[in-house]
Amino acid sequence: MQVSFAGSRSCKPETCATLSTIFALETSCDETAIAVTRGRELLASEIASQTALHEQYGGVVPEVASRNHLVHAPRLLASAMESAGISFTEVDCFAATSGPGLATSLMIGTSIAKGLAIGLRKPYLAVNHLEGHLLSPFFSERPTPIEQNVSLIVSGGHTLLVEVSEVNDYRVLGRTLDDAAGEAFDKVAKMLGLGYPGGPEIERRALPGDATRFEFPRSMVDSNNHNFSFSGLKTAVRYQLAKLSDGERGDEETINDVCASFQRVAIEVLVRKTIAAAKKSRVGLVTLSGGVSCNDALRTALAAACESVGLRFIAAPRTLTTDNAAMIAFAASLRFEAGCVSRVAEEIDPNLALA
Ligand code: KG4
Ligand code: ZN
Repeated sequence: MQVSFAGSRSCKPETCATLSTIFALETSCDETAIAVTRGRELLASEIASQTALHEQYGGVVPEVASRNHLVHAPRLLASAMESAGISFTEVDCFAATSGPGLATSLMIGTSIAKGLAIGLRKPYLAVNHLEGHLLSPFFSERPTPIEQNVSLIVSGGHTLLVEVSEVNDYRVLGRTLDDAAGEAFDKVAKMLGLGYPGGPEIERRALPGDATRFEFPRSMVDSNNHNFSFSGLKTAVRYQLAKLSDGERGDEETINDVCASFQRVAIEVLVRKTIAAAKKSRVGLVTLSGGVSCNDALRTALAAACESVGLRFIAAPRTLTTDNAAMIAFAASLRFEAGCVSRVAEEIDPNLALA
């Protein structure tokens, strides 16, 4: 019986030599996701997005999200196991995101994982959603050792700069003091009457736009800490829109130019602060993850900036940028192989910190 009710969450020093088979759930917000990994191989990854459902309410409604996790999870669970081509008895560890996120959503995924772990007499592992993002750039079929790096996590709920020494050894260098980067993309998109989530829509409109037409502030870009602030940028866009004539506000080209000008500044701030943090931490590697990291302009700009100062750079695979369970399974496999298990009595934590 390997299920631990009393053990601590920290990793034991001895490592497990064999590659493990992990079944993981991610239900921290409005995506229901299930993945199965064996070693570094992704055997199955299923995602059911509730975006369209919540769009009509203008944001995620927690009870609606958790009710829908219950609707989607049984179907995804069956199709993930079918795609993986394995039986539950072959799973070595059942994992789930235990925070940060919406309490009622986190409870669904963790309860399913715990139920399976107890029923099948296997270990349960609670995973931090941010650790899932942070490690995702290393998820490759060719084993990539986790080496010291400065990690930029940019999502709808978080913007963090983290110094990563190794798995489970993280130091948060800076974070946003107000809006997350993705939140700024979403709010600006809303002001412009574009769809949700706003990030992909702004990126699409920015492509043909003139990024130099509007000048927006680069908040905290030269501050002597590693924190971010995006609410001033968002407000500057609002003021700029108020100054436009009715004709300009309805003009596609002007909207494209606002998107391009906003995106240029948001990316410039993210890139400059990340390079400054990496230089100060004296690491040789920068990593990028989270929903906003699917933005091509950001990936290209950060890659170029790293190259210009002699830093190596890896970004999360595109399919693992927005919320998914594959990144949770990968983080769980690294922890599990390092001898880590969680107590099945471990509670969810909506405000779970990374370090
Ligand atoms: O990581 P994620 O799926 O969820 C959270 O953990 O928050 O990130 C979602 C965020 C949304 O704010 C969305 O607008 C943003 O990622 N996003 C993008 C792009 N694709 C998604 N932001 C900028 N450009 C994109 N292409
Ligand atoms: Zn996320």
